[in-house]
Order: sequence, then structure tokens, then C-alpha cells
Amino acid sequence: MSIVVTGATGHLGRHVVEQLLERVPAEQVTAVVRSPEKAADLAERSVRLAVADYSTPETFDGVFASGDKVLLISGNEFDKGRVQQHRVVIEAARAAGVALLAYTSAPGTLTAALADDHRGTEKALLDSGVPYVLLRNGWYHEVYTENLAPVLEHDAVVAAAGEGRVSSAARADYAAAAVAVLTGEGHENKTYELGGDEAWSLAEYAAELSRQTGREIAYKPVTVEELTGILGGAGLPEPMAAVFAGVDASIAKGELVVTSGDLARLAGRPTTPLADAVAAALEG
Ligand SMILES: NC(=O)c1ccc[n+]([C@@H]2O[C@H](COP(=O)([O-])OP(=O)(O)OC[C@H]3O[C@@H](n4cnc5c(N)ncnc54)[C@H](OP(=O)(O)O)[C@@H]3O)[C@@H](O)[C@H]2O)c1
Repeated sequence: MSIVVTGATGHLGRHVVEQLLERVPAEQVTAVVRSPEKAADLAERSVRLAVADYSTPETFDGVFASGDKVLLISGNEFDKGRVQQHRVVIEAARAAGVALLAYTSAPGTLTAALADDHRGTEKALLDSGVPYVLLRNGWYHEVYTENLAPVLEHDAVVAAAGEGRVSSAARADYAAAAVAVLTGEGHENKTYELGGDEAWSLAEYAAELSRQTGREIAYKPVTVEELTGILGGAGLPEPMAAVFAGVDASIAKGELVVTSGDLARLAGRPTTPLADAVAAALEG
């Protein structure tokens, strides 16, 4: 029996594997990666590597075994049909007879186009009959704090989120929830709505940035159309720009506020405050 993590060389996957290694022997962990050279450090620590690509079903032959617990981390190839990619993993897991497959989804309240692939994958997982866990991850703090360069250049947080609030949390928090599910009992066929303990507005985010930098950083609300143009001007392909700007429209409607408390409960501790993520990003 192994705990198998896909997307193990991604940002979230790295946190998951690190936290797993604090709980179980490395020999019980399998990292599914596309590029083994990116995971050489894990192999050195006795983590088993499996090389597979969501787009190529045969690469998943032999990756899973009966009784495994699997974390399917959603892919990031938005233009390649992620539902079909995820279906490849789900089908391989079903055929092997895994004990559990947890999927990193999006909040159930999210109606933005970005959620379509997640709803499609959730349906494929439920239809498969595999014991599942839906980890409906809210927004990452890092979506904001890893993109500070334009904010600091213009002293402005530009968004189309109006007065909407976001219950974001650190990737490490979502990883802790995934690890709790993968190493614990009684999570079969559960859906967890995951988000940070505190919801904040973009104006409050700008105020926190001002406080920590000593500069006057203002929230500059724009329309979804304006944001689509700004993101396109920054080099994002138009369809992706529209999808990301569409998330802000969802934030304005309150769709990224998560009040379940599931994340702190699964992690066994309060979630990371946004201010801590801001401080870490400014130090880095
Ligand atoms: N909740 C949020 O705020 C938020 C924000 C952004 C993204 N997400 C979603 O959450 C996921 C994890 O977040 P993250 O920060 O860890 O993203 P990330 O760093 O971009 O990691 C994505 C992982 O998926 C793997 N992957 C992509 N396509 C694949 C394929 N065809 N076959 C096998 N593996 C594939 C990547 O492999 P490589 O390491 O080989 O590239 C990488 O390990 C993202 O992929 C996205 O679906 C959520």
C-alpha cells in the first residue's frame, strides 16, 4: 500500500510530499512526476518515483496498486482538456482498485468558468465508483503574494473583485488538509469546502501591503472587461485572461468566501494569516 501524489513536483505537491514525509516512512510514498530530474531530491530520500503524464494513459500502467491512497492534483494545462486528463488518472486508479482517490477541486460555490473542469472531474470521479474525497480548495494566498511585482511597481492592487471577500489560505494549509485525508481514516466519499479562517477584501489586502511596506498602496477596482484587457496586455492569451478576470467577478459575488471551517479542522490548527504570507513574500 502506497500513498501516491500526482503533480508532486508542483508547488502544492511539494508541500504535500514534505508533510507526508513527516508522518509516514518515505518508502510508503510514491511521487508521480513528468520529469524525474525535477524530483531527484525525493528519490534520494527513498520516495518512489513514477513517471507519468495525464495526457498519455499508458504511462499510468502499473503506477497504482490495490489499496493505494491517491491524491490527484489538478493539472494546469488549461488548453489541453483537463477533464479528460484527470479521467485518465481516475480510470487507472479504478482499474488498480485503489482504496481512496482525493481530488483537489474548487469551492462548490464557484460559478466562474475556471470551475468547469473541476465540476467535470468531480462528476467523472463520482461516476467511476472509486472511493473519493473532494478537497474543494479555495484560493491560495500565493495567487496574490507571488504576483507582487506589478503591485509594487504601480503602488496599486488592480482587480475586478469590487468589495468582494476571499477566504484564501496558504498552499501549505491545503497540503495539510490533503495529508490528513491521506493518512487518516473515515474520509471516504466526503466533500470538504476548504478556505482560510479569515476572509479579506482587496482594499484590506492593499492596506496590509501599505502597512508592511510603509508605502501608500491603493486598491484600484476595475471592470472585468478592463481587467481582461490588462491581463491580455501583460501577455496572457485572451481566453485565459477572460477566465482569470471571471474569477474576480465571482469574488465580487462572494463565491470565494468559505465558512465551513473544514480546512482548520482537517489541518488541526488555524490557517495561515494573509499577513504572514505577505511578510514572507516581501522578505523573499
Ligand atoms: N486554489 C488556487 O488558488 C489555485 C491557484 C492556481 C492553481 N490551482 C490548481 O491547483 C493545482 C496545484 O497548484 P500548484 O500551485 O501546485 O500548481 P503548479 O505548481 O502549476 O503544479 C501543477 C502540477 O501539475 C502537474 N501537471 C500538469 N499537467 C500535467 C500532466 N499533463 N501530467 C502530469 N502532471 C501534470 C505539473 O507537473 P510538472 O511539475 O511536471 O510541471 C505540476 O506538478 C494547479 O495545477 C491548478 O489546477 C489552484
